[in-house]
Amino acid sequence: METNNLPKHVAIIMDGNGRWAESRNRNRTFGHKAGVEKTREIVESSAKLGIESLTLFAFSSENWSRPKDEVSYLMELFVLALKREVKMLNKNAVKLSFIGDTTQFSPKLQQSIFEAETQTCNNDGLLLNIAANYGGRWDIVNAVNQCLKAGKTKQELTESDIEANLATEGLPQLDLLIRTGGEKRISNFLIWQAAYAELYFSDKLWPDFDSVAYDKALSDYALRQRRFGQTSAQVKLKHK
Ligand code: FPP
Repeated sequence: METNNLPKHVAIIMDGNGRWAESRNRNRTFGHKAGVEKTREIVESSAKLGIESLTLFAFSSENWSRPKDEVSYLMELFVLALKREVKMLNKNAVKLSFIGDTTQFSPKLQQSIFEAETQTCNNDGLLLNIAANYGGRWDIVNAVNQCLKAGKTKQELTESDIEANLATEGLPQLDLLIRTGGEKRISNFLIWQAAYAELYFSDKLWPDFDSVAYDKALSDYALRQRRFGQTSAQVKLKHK
C-alpha cells in the first residue's frame, strides 16, 4: 500500500448493513452486528497505519425514523460495543470521542459513552470520533448558536468562528470521505468539513468492507492531486 501520502483525517459513512443481512434472508439487525465487526477491523487498521483521526457515522439525526425495533437494537448494540471494545481501543492507543447531540440518548447509553471516553482519554494514538445523533446541518446551526451565545453578534461571523465551534474542532482537516454501500451522496454527514475532502465511493456493503478494501481506498487517495482551488501547475511547483 502507498503509505507516503496517508490522509490525516478519514471519515466513513458505513452504509449497507441492512442490505447485507437481507441478501442472506436475515433480519437487518444481523447486518448491524456484522457491521460492528468490520468497524473493529477498520479502527485497528487505521491505528496501525498511523492515521491521526477517523470519524465514523454511526447514527444520523434522521435514523430515529427507522422502525422502533431497529432503533432499540442499535442503541443496545452501541452499549454492548462500547463495553466490549474499550480493551481493543486501549491496546491500540485509540482515544474515543463522540460527536453529535448525545443528550437525546438514554441515560444508560450516555453513561456507557462517558465511561468509554473516560477510559480511553489518556491514549495518544488514533482519534476515533463516533458521530451519533449527528447531522451536518445541526453541526453548523449549533456552531452559529454557540457564537451567538458567546456574544459574537457585534461583528460579522467568519469561517474561523464557525470552524472553532463545530463538533470536529481540534481535529485535523478532513482529507478523505469514504461511503460504502454503493450510494453516491453525503447524507448530511460532515457537510462543512467535506468542502475540500476527497470523496471515495465503494460498492461494497459495510460488512464486506475489510482492511483490503480500506487499503484500496487509501491508495486511491494517495494518488490524487489536491488543488484547493489552485491550478495543477501551481500545485506541482509547490511540491517541487
Ligand atoms: C448503515 O446501514 C449503518 C447504520 C445505520 C449504522 C450502524 C452502524 C454500525 C452498527 C456499525 C458499528 C458502529 C459502531 C460505532 C459500534 P443501513 O442499515 O443503512 O444499511 P442499508 O442501506 O443496507 O439499509
